[in-house]
This record gives sequence, C-alpha cells and structure tokens, in this order.
Amino acid sequence: MHIADCIEGCFQLMGGDFTNAGRASGDLKSMLAKLGVSQDVIRRASIAAFEAEMNVIIHAVAGTMHYTVNNEEVKIILTDMGPGIESIERAMQEGYSTAPDWVREMGWGAGMGLPNIKRNSDNLKIDSVVGEGTTLEIILYIRKEKTC
Ligand SMILES: Nc1ncnc2c1ncn2[C@@H]1O[C@H](COP(=O)(O)OP(=O)(O)OP(=O)(O)O)[C@@H](O)[C@H]1O
Ligand SMILES: [Mg+2]
Repeated sequence: MHIADCIEGCFQLMGGDFTNAGRASGDLKSMLAKLGVSQDVIRRASIAAFEAEMNVIIHAVAGTMHYTVNNEEVKIILTDMGPGIESIERAMQEGYSTAPDWVREMGWGAGMGLPNIKRNSDNLKIDSVVGEGTTLEIILYIRKEKTC
C-alpha cells in the first residue's frame, strides 16, 4: 500500500444530533478501505473514531472531527465546545459516566467509550478545560512492523 498524498477529511458535529451519528467515523472507515489500509487498522480506527464522535454528540454542544492519513499513520483530532472533563483520570476508568438517563435509555452511557478509544489506538492525548471544551488526538500507526 502506498498513499501518494496526505488524505484528509473534516466534519462538523452537533451535540444531540443522533440522526447523523456515525457519519464522520463512517467516512473515515470507507476512506481507509479505499486506500487499502489493513483490516486491523480500519477496525481499530473506526471504533476509536466512532466512540469519540459519539462523545461529542452526547456530551458536548458542538465540535469537529478532522482526520489525516499518510503512509505512516492515521491521525484523528476531535475538538469540541462543551462542559469539558473534570478529571481525565476518572473519565478513563471503565464504567464511569455522567450521561443522563435519557442518553442511557438510548443504550449509551456505559462509560466504555474512552477506555475503548485508548485500547484501540496507538497513542491518545486528551486536553480538556472545564466549561470550555475537549480535544482528543488519536493516532494509529499504519506500519507497525519494521522492514529493516
Ligand atoms: N467530549 C466530551 N466532553 C465532555 N465530557 C466528556 C467528553 N467525552 C467524555 N466525557 C466525560 O467522560 C465520561 C466517560 O466517557 P466515556 O466515553 O468513557 O463514557 P460515556 O460516553 O459516558 O458512555 P459510553 O461511551 O459507554 O456510551 C463521560 O460520561 C463524560 O463525563
Ligand atoms: Mg462515550
């Protein structure tokens, strides 16, 4: 597989917009498939991007998902305006969720999204300011095995 240029995509995300949930991560998934990236990277990138997209829709007011793909890595950056995360350490724990009841009734809010993103990415950075918003930088390496 060789990617000639840096491929990128950018999506607007709206808090509460469940109708369009999965569009941004779905676009990334089909782009990776088109580029011939390995099934393993496609699967992990899709899971991480989808969980991060859902978090903006569920927890924030609005945001963007921006991705870039080159021969080395898939980088997914999500930036949102929203309540921010008080304790990232706590938010990273399985089962921790502040999702309200109406979100739980839709099947979300198990507190598994961030741990899932961590598990499926090679590198995860979270920056958050309470009352302002959150930024996630998710990286997956395309070529793990060294050839020399
Ligand atoms: N973009 C965000 N803005 C504000 N808070 C967030 C954001 N993403 C995560 N959080 C906080 O971190 C908690 C844990 O997130 P996580 O994705 O693990 O679980 P969840 O979204 O509550 O449930 P699930 O992902 O299982 O549906 C959330 O409940 C919320 O308090
Ligand atoms: Mg979540």
